[in-house]
Amino acid sequence: MSDQQIPGYAYGDESVPDAPISTEELDHLKQSVMWSADDDDALQQAGDVLEPQIDEILDTWYGFVGDHDFLLHYFTDVDTNEPIDEYLDRVRARFGQWIRDTCDTPYDEAWLAYQFEIGRRHHHTGKNEADDVSAVPHIDFRYVNAFIYPITATIRDFLENSDHSRAEIDDMYHAWFKSVVLQVTLWSYPYIPDDEW
Ligand code: HEM
Repeated sequence: MSDQQIPGYAYGDESVPDAPISTEELDHLKQSVMWSADDDDALQQAGDVLEPQIDEILDTWYGFVGDHDFLLHYFTDVDTNEPIDEYLDRVRARFGQWIRDTCDTPYDEAWLAYQFEIGRRHHHTGKNEADDVSAVPHIDFRYVNAFIYPITATIRDFLENSDHSRAEIDDMYHAWFKSVVLQVTLWSYPYIPDDEW
C-alpha cells in the first residue's frame, strides 16, 4: 500500500500507469509458478514473522551487494564511480516496504501496476528517476534474475526465527520463492521485446 513517508515509493499512486497485462494473464503466470490460495495465506503469515526482522534482512541483502563491486556499481555515480549514500538509503526504505507488500496478499491491480514500475526502475527507461540521481543508468537483467536465489535462500533463516512448525516454515518459504519468481518475471517486461515477452 502507498506510504507517503517513503521517498519515491509510488504503490497505488495515480502516477503509476495501469499494467500492460490483464489480471487473467497474471493468473496464468501465477498458475505457472504453481500458486494457490494457500500461498496467499502463507505469505500473510510470513509477513508477521518478517516484520520485526526487516532491518536485519536488509542488512543481509545490502551486505551482499556491498561485498561485490560489480553489484554495488549500480548504486554508484556515473561520473565519480562512488556509491551514492542517499540513493542507497532511499532504495533501502522502499526495499523494506517491498517485503511488506510481498506478504500483503492477495495481489490486486494496484500491486500488478506497481510491478511494472519496479521493472522500469531497474531498466534504463526508469532508473534514477524516483531519487533524481546520476547513478549508472541501467541494471543488466542477468543480475536481476540471478538475485532470485539470494533473495530467496537468505529469507529461510528469518522465517525459521519463529514458533511455526517445520511444515509452516516450508509453506512460507515456498510461497516467498514463488512470489519472487513471479515478480522478477513481471519486472523482465521492459527488457524483452513485446512480441517475445
Ligand atoms: C530498486 C528489489 C535486483 C539494484 C529496487 C526496489 C526493490 C528492489 C523492491 C525498490 C522499488 C521501488 O522503487 O519501490 C529487488 C529484487 C531483486 C532486485 C527483489 C531481485 C530478485 C537488483 C539487482 C540490482 C538492484 C541485481 C543491482 C545491484 C537496484 C537499484 C534500485 C533498485 C539500483 C533503485 C532503482 C531506481 O533508481 O529507482 N530493487 N531488486 N536490484 N534495485 Fe533492485
